[in-house]
Amino acid sequence: MLGLKLATDPRWVNLASLSIEEILTDHAFCEQKATTNCISLIQLYPEKTFLVDKLIPIVNEEWSHFKMVLDELKKRNLKLGKQRQDKYVVALQNFIKKGGSPAERFLDRLLLAALIEARSCERFRLLSLDISDDSLKHFYHKLMISEATHYRLFIDIAEQYFEKEVVKSRWTEWLDEETRILSTLELRGDRIH
Ligand SMILES: [Fe+2]
Ligand SMILES: [Fe+2]
Repeated sequence: MLGLKLATDPRWVNLASLSIEEILTDHAFCEQKATTNCISLIQLYPEKTFLVDKLIPIVNEEWSHFKMVLDELKKRNLKLGKQRQDKYVVALQNFIKKGGSPAERFLDRLLLAALIEARSCERFRLLSLDISDDSLKHFYHKLMISEATHYRLFIDIAEQYFEKEVVKSRWTEWLDEETRILSTLELRGDRIH
């Protein structure tokens, strides 16, 4: 799905079902970080009109997702906990070409965002099918569709500024790196990633 090379271990949904408060808290902060990342991209690349125009509505959408997750917590009398370190995202960030050209770093930032959207989409799909809380199934189905759209959007932005072949070739490297990182991380039900 979405080009990802490693499917999530199906036991992850069972673990997540046992820790609804923790998974919703982690998810809420994923949405907050998605919002912040779109704002950062606009700040870093204000001259790139296509990117700015495409990301402005996504800032609103991701922030509305944050609010939606908070509402799901409230409905269940659960609390938004503290944000925890996202080892998955931190490990992925290390793959951005540090000594690369500004153009290479720009492409990497877009592909990193696309990858996190793709993996979130894959995990939301699993939750939409199998989470123990039935009313969350519909919620995760809606978000799965939304994150799939965002994955496609970041790829579209990349293809606006780079040759398709360049995007494809670097995307394959990102997919390989994500597979490597994911296979080293502990499977935890209190984390989206
Ligand atoms: Fe989102
Ligand atoms: Fe998203």
